[in-house]
Amino acid sequence: EKGGFGSFMDKEIHDQPQAVGDTLLGRTDLQGDLVLDDLRIDEAVLRTVDKIVVIACGTAAYAGHVAKYAIEHWCRIPVEVELAHEFRYRDPVVNEKTLVVAITQSGETMDTLMAVRHAREQGAKVISIVNTHGSTIPRESDAVLYTHAGPEIAVASTKAFLSQITAAYLLGLYLAQLRGNKFPDEIAEIYEALRAMPAKIQEVIDRGGRVREIARWMADTSSVLFLGRHVGFPVAMEGALKLKELAYIHAEGFAAGELKHGPIALIEPGQPVFVVVPSPRGRDSLHSKVISNIQEIRARGARTLVIAEDGDDAVLPFADEVFWVPQCPTLLSPLLTVVPLQIFACELATARGLDVDQPRNLAKSVTVE
Ligand code: M6R
Repeated sequence: EKGGFGSFMDKEIHDQPQAVGDTLLGRTDLQGDLVLDDLRIDEAVLRTVDKIVVIACGTAAYAGHVAKYAIEHWCRIPVEVELAHEFRYRDPVVNEKTLVVAITQSGETMDTLMAVRHAREQGAKVISIVNTHGSTIPRESDAVLYTHAGPEIAVASTKAFLSQITAAYLLGLYLAQLRGNKFPDEIAEIYEALRAMPAKIQEVIDRGGRVREIARWMADTSSVLFLGRHVGFPVAMEGALKLKELAYIHAEGFAAGELKHGPIALIEPGQPVFVVVPSPRGRDSLHSKVISNIQEIRARGARTLVIAEDGDDAVLPFADEVFWVPQCPTLLSPLLTVVPLQIFACELATARGLDVDQPRNLAKSVTVE
């Protein structure tokens, strides 16, 4: 069943190009317009919502953070992302004009389910992005957008995460289209770029040899930090979560801009730090700011493990290692930049002799609050 791989997680990492491709499949009509047949909600409601709140837990919440950057940019609707268990218990401001997007692989996460119920009681409409057919959360939502990742067996989420991000992009593009977005050319371009992502994800997997080698060398590491900015920030958080879950190593993800506000004090000689570098073709100055961050931590002795776009030679003077990913539009880049981090955690945990599919103390689906 593991298809020749050492673990379900490793297999599921390799399933990702297909999971993303299948999530995109069949969702455009002949004109190339998005068709979300399984999105049964009144379009008039979607035209008038004035706020989106994404609720989810764990990795699914990081998919929500990526969605926020994309949906706000494409649709100009404010998007909040909140952990489902926090949302439910703090009297959140939601009403008929709020669209709640619940993201969940299992469709059974109790914290998320309770938040969905609470949101609907306040009059909000709920669209759930779910991987498991026949589960509870889609039944209790006003509409559902299924991710087609196939069954995810490993406790640590990988292909479901990439599929959740993909589905959130589709939702964002659909809303942009429906509400008469201001950047139709850009939307068409993004859609084309999305279709090219499965092959690029495959490319990152094929280049995974070096990150595996480094992970094996680092099997005895006691702490790893992850930095990212813009959509690289949730990727850094996800990289840290994967390492905690699988390898039981202290790991923290930070927004790179936050470094000088505290976390830089953690840097001492030999501290490994992954840095997700934004594309040099993206938002002006973000790239150079992150390059400066790498320079700053390296000057303090950090071991810099850099994830950068092909051709970005500016990282070379400050990187101890570079893991290259193909070029793509910045908002789509998490589909590529997270993959070396998944491989790293999986390989390092395996090198430590741990059960990567069933990490201690964790369940695949958390059905208690
Ligand atoms: O089934 P869900 O997507 O609702 O699960 C949410 C989290 O429990 C889940 O993503 C968890 O963080 C994973 N173990 C991450 O690898």
